[in-house]
Amino acid sequence: MDDKPVNISLFGGGNVAIHLAKNLLKLSGYRLQQIYNRHLSSIKIFENQVEIIDDLSQLKPADLFILALKDNVIVPFSKKLKNFDVLIVHTSGSIPLQALQTRRKGVFYPFQTFSKNKPDLDFSVIPILIEAENKQDLVLLENLAKSLSKNVQTVNSDQRKALHIAGVFAANFVNFMYRQAADILQDSNLSFDLVKPLIEETARKVQNLPPAQAQTGPAARGDIKTVEKHLEFLKNKPQFILYQYLTEMILKDYGHK
Ligand SMILES: NC(=O)c1ccc[n+]([C@@H]2O[C@H](COP(=O)([O-])OP(=O)(O)OC[C@H]3O[C@@H](n4cnc5c(N)ncnc54)[C@H](OP(=O)(O)O)[C@@H]3O)[C@@H](O)[C@H]2O)c1
Repeated sequence: MDDKPVNISLFGGGNVAIHLAKNLLKLSGYRLQQIYNRHLSSIKIFENQVEIIDDLSQLKPADLFILALKDNVIVPFSKKLKNFDVLIVHTSGSIPLQALQTRRKGVFYPFQTFSKNKPDLDFSVIPILIEAENKQDLVLLENLAKSLSKNVQTVNSDQRKALHIAGVFAANFVNFMYRQAADILQDSNLSFDLVKPLIEETARKVQNLPPAQAQTGPAARGDIKTVEKHLEFLKNKPQFILYQYLTEMILKDYGHK
């Protein structure tokens, strides 16, 4: 990399944009020169470090535009930038590269759950999945991603979609299961704190053991009597169908049906 910093403009003031901005500001060799958001209030925290704008006519030439915008806004918004000769990337797991209506296209997908009010995340362990149409743009993205994270991979849009879906199972659905556990406990005047060590150990276990081997519980054991007692307990609760369906799948998967 030569001495001239790579100029980046970031678009968005939401969960991803806030975390990304904080981490881009720490990098040497890169200059976060502008942050755009339609409402300045959410990016005001950066006003002493970066130029913040809410009007696209104020955009300066840059090497890279990162659109950390809501999924359904990315494509229409990208149309507004079609005259810029700059690499324009989005940060979404589900929007194909070719959907961008820009001259140069790319994807810069950090695979983690971001909430803007959560304290700082360790970006160095967050996988970053990149994609670009041409080699030169891919190199730019690869260099940037490697400055932020130790885990950078080039994937195509279908692979990114698969990863996004895997994330829905591994995080969103699992969290929804926590909610079911919390509700069941609350109905019996028990605290959700009781399951926290179990949650931690289950998440820790799959760091070293394939999930198929880590599975425990009555369905994996084929313990039908216990399953029936649980279903009886749940028969008037909203979790009944979920328990029954998942149990069926586990019983089949572990050869008990
Ligand atoms: N959150 C995650 O965990 C996560 C993880 C990886 C990737 N991603 C992806 O990263 C992208 C951003 O996600 P996020 O969670 O940061 O979203 P978010 O917190 O909901 O922020 C959305 C951003 O889009 C802007 N926006 C919404 N409607 C707009 C419109 N009509 N015109 C212009 N701007 C508009 C919002 O502006 P205002 O502030 O003005 O409303 C805000 O800056 C998405 O593609 C998402 O799939 C998210």
